[in-house]
Amino acid sequence: MIELIAVLLLAGVIPNYAQQANYITTGFGSPVSYKDASLTVGRRGPLLLEDTEFIDEMSHFDRERIPERVVHAKGGGAFGYFEVTNDISRYCAAQVFARVGNRTRIAIRFSTVAGESGSADTVRDPRGFAIKFYTQEGNWDLVGNNLPIFFIRDSILFPSFIHSQKRQPSTFLHDGDMQWDFFTSRQEVTHMLLYLFSDRGTPDGFRFMHGFGVNTFKLINATGHHVYCKFHYLSNQGLRNLTAARAQELQAEDPDYAIRDLYNAIRSGNYPSWTLNIQVMTEAQALNSSFNPFDDTKVWPEDVYPLIPVGRLVLNENPTNYFQDIEQMALSPSRMVPGIKPSPDRMLQGRLFSYPDTQRHRLGPNFLQIPVNCPFYVRNYQRDGPMSYSNQGNNTVYHPNSVDSLNVSQRAAALSPAYSVSGGVSKYDNGDDDNFAQARYFYENVLDDEQRDRLLENLANAIATASEDLQRGALEMFTNVSGDLRNRLQALLGLW
Ligand code: HEM
Repeated sequence: MIELIAVLLLAGVIPNYAQQANYITTGFGSPVSYKDASLTVGRRGPLLLEDTEFIDEMSHFDRERIPERVVHAKGGGAFGYFEVTNDISRYCAAQVFARVGNRTRIAIRFSTVAGESGSADTVRDPRGFAIKFYTQEGNWDLVGNNLPIFFIRDSILFPSFIHSQKRQPSTFLHDGDMQWDFFTSRQEVTHMLLYLFSDRGTPDGFRFMHGFGVNTFKLINATGHHVYCKFHYLSNQGLRNLTAARAQELQAEDPDYAIRDLYNAIRSGNYPSWTLNIQVMTEAQALNSSFNPFDDTKVWPEDVYPLIPVGRLVLNENPTNYFQDIEQMALSPSRMVPGIKPSPDRMLQGRLFSYPDTQRHRLGPNFLQIPVNCPFYVRNYQRDGPMSYSNQGNNTVYHPNSVDSLNVSQRAAALSPAYSVSGGVSKYDNGDDDNFAQARYFYENVLDDEQRDRLLENLANAIATASEDLQRGALEMFTNVSGDLRNRLQALLGLW
């Protein structure tokens, strides 16, 4: 069937939207008679409803905007490839890792989190760093950030967390009270706040930052054995951050600083790249771990769980049309391929639902047919809905049937071994689950003196935007990290 369509397209029998006319047309392909004026009664008279060229143009314009992403609305991206450099088949049988030297086409979208689509690129915020791998066995999306951990550890809190960071409903302003009220009420945020208010909260564009999958995944090998896994993709350009002052200047001078930097680097042939690594943890290690490996506010210590190199991510192709390639891109951690599965990480589990759900709203139910989201091969029983561009012809529309001889994939079945879970069903609040030990380690051992000074200044400036009660609450919260941190913050805030 596909071959037949291709032949008909080539023969010009079926219209092909990729072909461009060498004259101006309406949306329905009819040549436009005049483009610089609408149809009026006399030189000074009103417009006519019969001006179908005007109506075609204006009504499409009226519908040009789609809803922006509810988070991560501002971003940029590019295309390139992933190349396997190291064999990890003992951990994972995914086709994308099958052979050293294998190349897979990728798309990457970088973003800020809280700002709207016109907001500045250099604000203090985590950066989204999401990768789509167009593999032969379906599209695999690794939807990560530039910081290795996250603020909260139960997805039910995500809408509230985001509301507290966005605009206050009556003033329509960002609001320090909402932010610090939420933070001090859920102190699991502490570790992430130290990352965010360190230099790494204002990366110098998209090229000089690392990426992390953040949530814990499960890798399955050819024998059906699994390990848990964290993904790290480390910048081969090195880490480079902006000072708070420079980041602020750039917000005024060049709000699109990061998008411009990425675009220009690729255009000039200076292709950015990252090294993909994994950390792995066995089931036995997970059972005996001193921290919860499915808690995304925690890092896995690299001396115990060393980085294992996997391959190289290279961006060498700019988008040709931003809306088509980047705005319509839909990335979701639920898009996994045989050999990669979710872990019980509560945040990941919630994300598996949220992304495709919002994408059906943002782009429509057939968003997977949009070229940038479309996998290489599809054959299933999903049909119709708005804008079904590729409705699978006259293939059978139900399963099981006695007509087609299609089977499910034995390989996918082998890579989906049964697993056990146990426990009483309840709403377990994990808000007090070891909130400060790793935050203390970060403050005392990861940062040097100068980085600590800048962290304190950035943090104090942010806390100062909240009411005095909340400032005192924040001081109490940081006391749990370190007396030194609290005392120095207290001095900077002038609170006695
Ligand atoms: C339960 C927690 C979370 C929920 C419910 C959630 C939900 C969402 C939603 C609804 C979007 C918009 C998607 C779209 O319109 O296409 C989004 C985007 C995004 N999220 Fe999350 N998120 C959560 C946590 C996280 C975490 C922990 C990370 C980091 C690993 C993350 C990274 C991203 C990125 C990078 C994007 C932008 C993807 C793109 O470029 O299109 N999110 N998130």
